[in-house]
Amino acid sequence: MKAKLLWISALLLSVMIGLGITSCTNSQRVDLTPQEQLGKFLFNDKNLSLNNNLACASCHGSGVGYTGQDEPINLHGAVYEGSIAGNFGNRKPPSAAYADDSPILHNDAVAGWVGGMFWDGRATGWTMDNPLAEQAKGPFLNPMEHAVPNAQTLCDKVKASNYVNLFTEVWGSISCADDTAVGVAYDNISVSIATYEGSKEVSSFTSKFDAFWNKAKIKGKNVTQVSMANWENYKSLGLNNDQLNGLAIFNTKANCSSCHTLDEGIAGYPLFTDFSYDNLGIPKNPENPATIADPNWADPGLGGFLEKTALYSTVSSTEIGKFKVPTLRNVDLRPTTTFVKAYGHNGYFKSLEGIVHFYNTRDVLAVCPGDYTEPQALQANCWPAPEVAENMNTKQVGNMGLTAVEEKELVAFLKTLSDSSLP
Ligand code: HEC
Ligand code: HEC
Repeated sequence: MKAKLLWISALLLSVMIGLGITSCTNSQRVDLTPQEQLGKFLFNDKNLSLNNNLACASCHGSGVGYTGQDEPINLHGAVYEGSIAGNFGNRKPPSAAYADDSPILHNDAVAGWVGGMFWDGRATGWTMDNPLAEQAKGPFLNPMEHAVPNAQTLCDKVKASNYVNLFTEVWGSISCADDTAVGVAYDNISVSIATYEGSKEVSSFTSKFDAFWNKAKIKGKNVTQVSMANWENYKSLGLNNDQLNGLAIFNTKANCSSCHTLDEGIAGYPLFTDFSYDNLGIPKNPENPATIADPNWADPGLGGFLEKTALYSTVSSTEIGKFKVPTLRNVDLRPTTTFVKAYGHNGYFKSLEGIVHFYNTRDVLAVCPGDYTEPQALQANCWPAPEVAENMNTKQVGNMGLTAVEEKELVAFLKTLSDSSLP
């Protein structure tokens, strides 16, 4: 029933786009439920930070696919400043969109560790049964982010907000009278935000690829089976030859889809992640403030989190240096064609061309003689040593044997994953 409704609204949307009705404001474009609208207010409210200067949206901007939207930052350290000046995180913001299918963090017999939120999975979902809502609790009290001193203060701020009536409509009246009441409010705040992140406004499935996916489905063609041998059977469904060849390489020769899966998610479209963890051997970002402060620091990723848990500390060593496979949706979404975005957990990469070339040649090119940045490494035709050498995936990535043309086609395909109806 819900799927059908979604489908009808998708159809309506494409009719609107067909008629050129795309300049209307976003609130007219997507009807949010009261809970989603409440989540939107919370997501965009700078008053919910210590110095009233930072919202979730500050680090997760819609115009760049809900990741970092400050070009000078992306170009260098790629980590963002919190509400308190000078307090930086040590990782690049991943997309806050398309994350809600990530299951509760668990160790799968075949896939290994799967699920949770954050690059290292530490918003596990173990307490709320909802990793995305659990994640949304983190930033408010994190001194590197919103830096609110405690949940009580957050509750008071929401109670004093100009959308408190909507909060009451959705959850009943808000009380910050004691710890129990504050706990309930804090849960309701985080669930509202998670609901907004999963809404049709944030996770809209309106890319060129999605239109192609829909057309292929109507024709009875399975997009997960596109290969370098059969790609021509998928012509005239909305992707041009370069993009189609890129998809074929993505599925076969480069086998990107073994991690960035094309399998259908809950909404019926691929999320381009299986929510598993890998160490790709991405170099240190020498411009990350955490690396500048301590050149020997290496981000331990999932293993670093597991090490601190009571149950899994003994099995953490095989997970050091692994990070969650990110969605590839909106990786190329940017306000202008030359706008620079950063890629990877530490934002080492500054271009899709760069990261694709790295996948293809990590184990082929010479090791750079120093901590080169991505542009320096591309110029010198080398790659720096990995940030973490242990547990590096050498089977699937590092030497893919792709030609320069095939690398370009892969990038052309990645560019079809940008949503067209973002606010
Ligand atoms: C100062 C910048 C900053 C602010 C503000 C911020 N985030 Fe983030 N966000 C990040 C960074 C950096 C990460 C990755 C951190 C990590 O993995 O340790 C992240 C991770 C996430 C993720 C995980 C996505 C995934 O696939 O694992 C979600 C969802 C998210 N943020 C949503 C939010 C919400 C909701 C808020 C507001 C309550 C918020 N963020 C505020 C920087 C920020
Ligand atoms: C073995 C699993 C695996 C395979 C195969 C794989 N990836 Fe990834 N991908 C990852 C992981 C894990 C990350 C994050 C790693 C990190 O930041 O340290 C990532 C990150 C990325 C990013 C950065 C996204 C962002 O928002 O920062 C892009 C782009 C990307 N991959 C594209 C590709 C392409 C294209 C291919 C095929 C050539 C590919 N991947 C193959 C696991 C994989």
